[in-house]
Amino acid sequence: MSDINIKVTDREGQVHELLAPTDMAMNLMEVCKSYELPVEGTCGGMAMCASCQCYIISDHQLPEMGIDEDMMLAEAFYVKDNSRLGCQIPITKELDGLEVELAPES
Ligand code: FES
Repeated sequence: MSDINIKVTDREGQVHELLAPTDMAMNLMEVCKSYELPVEGTCGGMAMCASCQCYIISDHQLPEMGIDEDMMLAEAFYVKDNSRLGCQIPITKELDGLEVELAPES
């Protein structure tokens, strides 16, 4: 079994428990979209739109932010200290139990 559990709180405060495969080269934005959560992913995961911005609630060790993600978040709205772009977070088994909240739509 290579699925992990992820909890996503949507913009209405509703919590969704997602099962995410670690063996399909998916990222967090794609998993949210596959569950039809309101994550647009307008740029297709290129770190160029911030529509996949989320706040990391649990204290998981995430891959370090790349320069593109850093620059996009510098321009995005509603950015907090724990903001990340979902499309830049690959689903790996280390992320089992991850909890995130979707940032407001900008
Ligand atoms: Fe556009 Fe993540 S999908 S920045």
